[in-house]
Amino acid sequence: MKRFVVTGGAGFIGSTLVKTLVPHGSVSVVDNLLTGYERNIEEVRSCIEFHKADIRDAALIAPLLKDADTVFHLAAIPSVPRSITDPIPSHEVNIDGTFNVFRAAAEGGVRRVVYAASSSAYGDTPTLPKTESMTPHPKSPYAAQKLMGEYYASVFHSCFGLETVSLRFFNVYGPRQDPSSPYSGVLSVFMKNLLAGTSPTIFGDGEQTRDFTYVEDVADLCVKAANAQGVTGKVYNAGNGGRYSLNYLWDLLQRIEGVKIPAQFGPPRAGDVRDSMADTTAAVADLGHSPRFSIEEGLRRTLEWYRKTN
Ligand code: UD1
Repeated sequence: MKRFVVTGGAGFIGSTLVKTLVPHGSVSVVDNLLTGYERNIEEVRSCIEFHKADIRDAALIAPLLKDADTVFHLAAIPSVPRSITDPIPSHEVNIDGTFNVFRAAAEGGVRRVVYAASSSAYGDTPTLPKTESMTPHPKSPYAAQKLMGEYYASVFHSCFGLETVSLRFFNVYGPRQDPSSPYSGVLSVFMKNLLAGTSPTIFGDGEQTRDFTYVEDVADLCVKAANAQGVTGKVYNAGNGGRYSLNYLWDLLQRIEGVKIPAQFGPPRAGDVRDSMADTTAAVADLGHSPRFSIEEGLRRTLEWYRKTN
């Protein structure tokens, strides 16, 4: 039986991946519960191992990763604005912690590491869609940290023979995304406002666009990246290949719910990029990426989940 380790497995994306992996092998979750919750893995708790451990602690995590078939490295302190207001922890987790994970994997005989990179690496270059061959232009500490993780993935492959694949996640949304922090992803905040009947605050004019990707599509792609041949040391976009503005999505959500709640507008956020959209050609060709959820379907499922758990 294959052994999988998911760092950040109690988080929003990690917990979805854990559920996807459970039928395929034994799954260990490594999570410090900083932004994750044990309740996220409650329904699979009896068939997984859970380790409350911080990836900044190299000695603690090394034995947990040892001899795994695949390590999915999703543990991170996410958020562009958080990395600006509080840059030290995000640096320590996203760069030092990531180094610890690659090192533990290389020294512990792990076959492959799938690394959660970020579309933020592209920055504000005007060309759309974003292709992996473009020069990165990180605009925030978070973007720089996630890019450094890609470089480490590539170097651990070339220097230490560790199989690695980096997936640049593009604005993932879906059930279990936590709407309660000032750094929460915008769609989780929109859902919370919609169900409470309150106005969201849109930073800027709302015409910024993102390639919003449903969490199950991302989890499926992680599994494909673990198994694909001829892809090690490489970086792939894990997006949908579309983009929607915040104004459009807030309108769409109001239509789905049959309500009218005008948004409020605030100043643009530091470190924000204007537009983001993935070229998915390489992920489709090399990894077999085939996203299943349209934005309407993804939003409906997500909204249903927030309604049920509210
Ligand atoms: C960025 C990355 C994404 C990464 C995420 C991690 C890009 C293009 N995307 O997402 O890949 O996974 O960081 O955190 O860099 N907003 C509001 N009101 C709110 C909250 C946000 O208007 O209450 C706006 C933001 O200013 C931004 C957009 O919504 O323009 C999206 O913000 P957010 O959901 O935080 O994600 P990104 O920073 O785009």
